Amino acid sequence: MDALRPGPCVTGLRIAELRDFCVTHPNALPDMMPFTLGLAGQRVLLVGWDSAALAYLEEQGAAVRCIAGPASAEDLAGVGLCLARAGDDVTRAAAGAAGVLVGMLPDAVPRQGRDDATRAAADAAGVLVSTLPDAAPRRGGRASLVGCGPGAVEMLTVRAVQVIRDADVVLHDKLVGPGVLDLVRPGARRVDVGKRCGRHVMSQAAINALIVREARAGLHVVRLKGGDPFVFGRGGEELESLRAAGVPTEVVPGITAALATAARLGIPLTHRGASRSLHLITAHGADDRLPEHDWVALARAGGTLAVYMGVRTLPLLAARLLGAGMAADTPAIAVENATLAGERRVLGTLGGIAANVAEAGVTGPTLVLIGAVVAMADVGAVVDAVRAA
Ligand SMILES: C[S@@+](CC[C@H](N)C(=O)[O-])C[C@H]1O[C@@H](n2cnc3c(N)ncnc32)[C@H](O)[C@@H]1O
Repeated sequence: MDALRPGPCVTGLRIAELRDFCVTHPNALPDMMPFTLGLAGQRVLLVGWDSAALAYLEEQGAAVRCIAGPASAEDLAGVGLCLARAGDDVTRAAAGAAGVLVGMLPDAVPRQGRDDATRAAADAAGVLVSTLPDAAPRRGGRASLVGCGPGAVEMLTVRAVQVIRDADVVLHDKLVGPGVLDLVRPGARRVDVGKRCGRHVMSQAAINALIVREARAGLHVVRLKGGDPFVFGRGGEELESLRAAGVPTEVVPGITAALATAARLGIPLTHRGASRSLHLITAHGADDRLPEHDWVALARAGGTLAVYMGVRTLPLLAARLLGAGMAADTPAIAVENATLAGERRVLGTLGGIAANVAEAGVTGPTLVLIGAVVAMADVGAVVDAVRAA
């Protein structure tokens, strides 16, 4: 321990824990020590640790990776410092074998404000002393799958706003409007899981793993989804993976695109004498092709069809419905970027909507409504209650 220098105050660590804190290996340098010197740029592996430690390390400029643990040789490759829970002997041994400096941290860090007695005792004993942030409360990790509605911030639920403001980490993608991200508190991390990295977008499996990993590190992870998480949002897959990992999860519903679009245009999705059912369907199958729905049943039901992800396969979808007996003059409307600044509406009939959409050059997220109720759309003079409020 000769190489170690006493540092600033530690909050609440007992002296015995401090003694166990840093197990130096022969090459340990003072500037590799975690809480006194030079964490900037260090690759730190945090094994099963909590949000306070993570926040602290990141604040110091460390490149932190969190894992549930125990750490393997692969996890430790290229790592400058590994922090693991006291008792995690597997990680300790793996780090030792890999020649990586390892610090064992106590499981429960009491947080009682400034602890001058510990500081004095540690200084007297010549033991490394560190400062942990008081601000971040220790708590168990959890996740929230939050529906953000069609994009406009005003379409969020009160619960969604509460949860977003509480988040430690926010994972979002492109369907989440910028105003929504403004609600994320300073200091919380934002991760764009929809962003392309070269030619690659983060896979659903990787997103599932990331949510679990962050939650297991003690963070409140908020996964923001456009519309509702359980309507063509893959929220079910994320929930399954969180359940399997034992992560407590809240699902916050959001206004799905069909509801938002219909409301914008004054289209009642069900209406006495005109539509007795509502069918939410996707026009985008796993192989990028139109899925084979029961077109005859859909045509015969005579309800309202809300088609998600339908721009590319709209000509084929319309042909399928016409072939199943739906009338060519059935009213239809495509709404691009509903509730957002670039909102556009393309009106037509089942027979002509695909051509109209192609002519309009629609490229943004677009919802297509098909059915008798679409005739009630007030396309020209939509009451913009949200913005007028
Ligand atoms: C992957 S799905 C997500 C649906 C979302 N979970 C929901 O409940 O609305 C994406 C599709 O939702 C529809 N969509 C989402 N936001 C929209 C918006 N603001 N305007 C029109 N359609 C939208 C489009 O059909 C888009 O291709």
